[in-house]
Amino acid sequence: NKKAFIFDLDGVIVDTAKYHFLAWQKLAQELGIEFTPEHNEELKGVSRVRSLDIILELGGIQASQEDKNKWLIQKNEDYLSYLVDIDESEILPGVLPVLHYLKDKNQLIALGSASKNARPILEKTGIINLFDAIVDGNDVSNAKPDPEVFLQAAKKLGATNENSIVFEDSVAGIQAANIANMTSIGIGEATTLYEAKYIFKDFTFIDVSFIESLIN
Ligand code: G6P
Ligand code: MG
Repeated sequence: NKKAFIFDLDGVIVDTAKYHFLAWQKLAQELGIEFTPEHNEELKGVSRVRSLDIILELGGIQASQEDKNKWLIQKNEDYLSYLVDIDESEILPGVLPVLHYLKDKNQLIALGSASKNARPILEKTGIINLFDAIVDGNDVSNAKPDPEVFLQAAKKLGATNENSIVFEDSVAGIQAANIANMTSIGIGEATTLYEAKYIFKDFTFIDVSFIESLIN
């Protein structure tokens, strides 16, 4: 039995969600917009361009395309400055054992991320070879909760949606998986991710018997 296991990147595999938050918060501060961790939940899983629009809406700011482009570059440069020295230690606890277990069991593994920085992050953390398919922000035109990113991933793996399982830390990503009729697994707080079929605080709470039950 082969299933397709599709992983989001930021906040699921690697601890980069905190860097996205810091970079957005810095920009928001410069623009005089109050930006809290609660606001940030709305940005998780959402594309860079859409994230900026949400922040500007929050501050009631109308900006020219020129300004927006400048801020998008600024945010990304700030974000990338946190990633210069990252290595495998950025991988979140419990993730590597699950990836290796799935590999051992001959399951299909894909990345389904909105990030345009996904490949260099997977390379730096040394896990890019574990993935049978990678779909990232360079491949899709519709941001989560649109299911495009996960649909493309399942297609690349040759799996049906019903045989696909999605690990996500964002509300938008859980909604995308549900819309695609995939099994959604939330990684984070149940109060935020209650739409997920299963929820775990982090990967250390996922045991072998649970993964087995998904495969069979
Ligand atoms: C992920 C993150 C978002 C981020 C988006 C785009 O979905 O959860 O916080 O804004 O990717 O990432 P990028 O690296 O392309 O700016
Ligand atoms: Mg995420």
